Amino acid sequence: MNIDLSSANPLKHTTPALVIGCFEDAGNELFTTCDGALDGCLGRLATNKEFTGKVNTTRLIHTLGKLPAERLLLVGLGKKAGLDDERLRQAAGNAVQALRAARVASFATTLHLAGAGDTALEAACEGALLGSYSFDEYKTKDRDERFHFEEMTLLLSKGISVKEGRIRVERTQAVCRGVSLARDLVSHPGNVVTTGYLAATARELATRHALSCRVLELDELEKLGMNALVAVGKGSAEPPRLIVLEYRGAGDRDRPVALVGKGITFDSGGISIKPGAGMEEMKTDMAGAAAVLGTMEAAAALKLPVNLVGIVPTAENMPDGKAYKPGDVIVSLSGQTIEITNTDAEGRLILCDALHYARTHYKPAAMIDLATLTGACVVALGHEATGMMGNDQRLIERLKRAGGRCGERVWELPLWDEYGEAMKSDIADLKNAGSRDGGSITAGWFLKQFVGKTRWAHMDIAGTAWGDKARPCAPKGATGVGVRLLIEYLTGK
Ligand code: BES
Ligand code: MN
Ligand code: ZN
Repeated sequence: MNIDLSSANPLKHTTPALVIGCFEDAGNELFTTCDGALDGCLGRLATNKEFTGKVNTTRLIHTLGKLPAERLLLVGLGKKAGLDDERLRQAAGNAVQALRAARVASFATTLHLAGAGDTALEAACEGALLGSYSFDEYKTKDRDERFHFEEMTLLLSKGISVKEGRIRVERTQAVCRGVSLARDLVSHPGNVVTTGYLAATARELATRHALSCRVLELDELEKLGMNALVAVGKGSAEPPRLIVLEYRGAGDRDRPVALVGKGITFDSGGISIKPGAGMEEMKTDMAGAAAVLGTMEAAAALKLPVNLVGIVPTAENMPDGKAYKPGDVIVSLSGQTIEITNTDAEGRLILCDALHYARTHYKPAAMIDLATLTGACVVALGHEATGMMGNDQRLIERLKRAGGRCGERVWELPLWDEYGEAMKSDIADLKNAGSRDGGSITAGWFLKQFVGKTRWAHMDIAGTAWGDKARPCAPKGATGVGVRLLIEYLTGK
């Protein structure tokens, strides 16, 4: 979708649809003037409760030549008090979904004018970009008639110039491109997004954004002793890989922030195979990797003044004669031995080697991993929040605040030492799976054994990476979770 900016008066602007925000409990000037031009039609809708301005409601009406805009899209903003960026984002997402349903490809919007904060423009623009996403690469029928958005015109208030607006919109577009990349990677099936595909994507990002990229292939992983990552990949025809992307936006002496993303391109469970029902969703088990790649792309496009290293351990977890199996003992890169009690607890294995690698090779200032790690996290938090654990309260609080600002909510779970009891093995230092109790936390506790004193946070995105129902800013399917959170963390306080 192309974005245009204009300082035109909304009432004089010619467009297929003019989007205006409406409060439940307060009028606004634009609404009143439009109502006047439409002989009181909007007031009538309100008195009849056909459109009340409640959140998550929209109403499209034709203006029949009474306004230069062919249609008006009324978008509910809820109560005026407490209107924040997230509500604005969602309103914009709802708006584009209503426009898509009516097949209106170009529109002008004034939604941001309703916001009080100084990031209202970004929020409304972001909501529209995120809400207009669709993934239909594999639908071959009626390609020509398929709906595509063409142009969104942001009508600016007096206080902001087109030039300044343009800069702010371009930054928002850069972030949303990162989110779209993450969504695309998760949406593609496992026979397309293989470990090699993720590596090729990273290389392509590196060329486009002047990042440096290195992909460690199987022989190097073996030589280095990344045996946990190698073990998980053994049952697959696609070899495991470690992808390392570096972005330098700060001075050479600044220690980087390491972002580590779980890249299981398909999780069958391996020898401890999963039940068949719903197994297809396990193509999304590389959503952590997708978030890291999307963030690297956005950070580079935004030229953020930070050093970053993105690390993606990637493998396909399959059952096979060569596959790793329950009872096996593995010597991880850190030297700690791990008894395999369940081959379906593979994410923590590829991550433990990647975390150790990140820590020892980069001495990062902080390390954040993202992983669709446990079904238990979905049980605990559903699809409303990412589960977060870590060893540094300041980092955790910063991530919570970033989540609050960008609307990607995170919720902290405890990591008390007692949780470690479940991960003790009779034969090795650790086992990779305990009982079902506290499953999300015991997985986090396992990872903690590999980060040493490095400041670290773990994000379990099992419940937030994929949605079974459409949301205002994310159609059903891949959400691209993590990209906006990390960018917000990296740019914020
Ligand atoms: N990839 C899964 C976790 C998952 C579940 C992600 C549902 C998204 C939606 C992970 O590898 C896994 O299988 N975890 C096991 C761990 C258990 C064997 C200790 C789980 O959660 O059941
Ligand atoms: Mn698994
Ligand atoms: Zn998995």
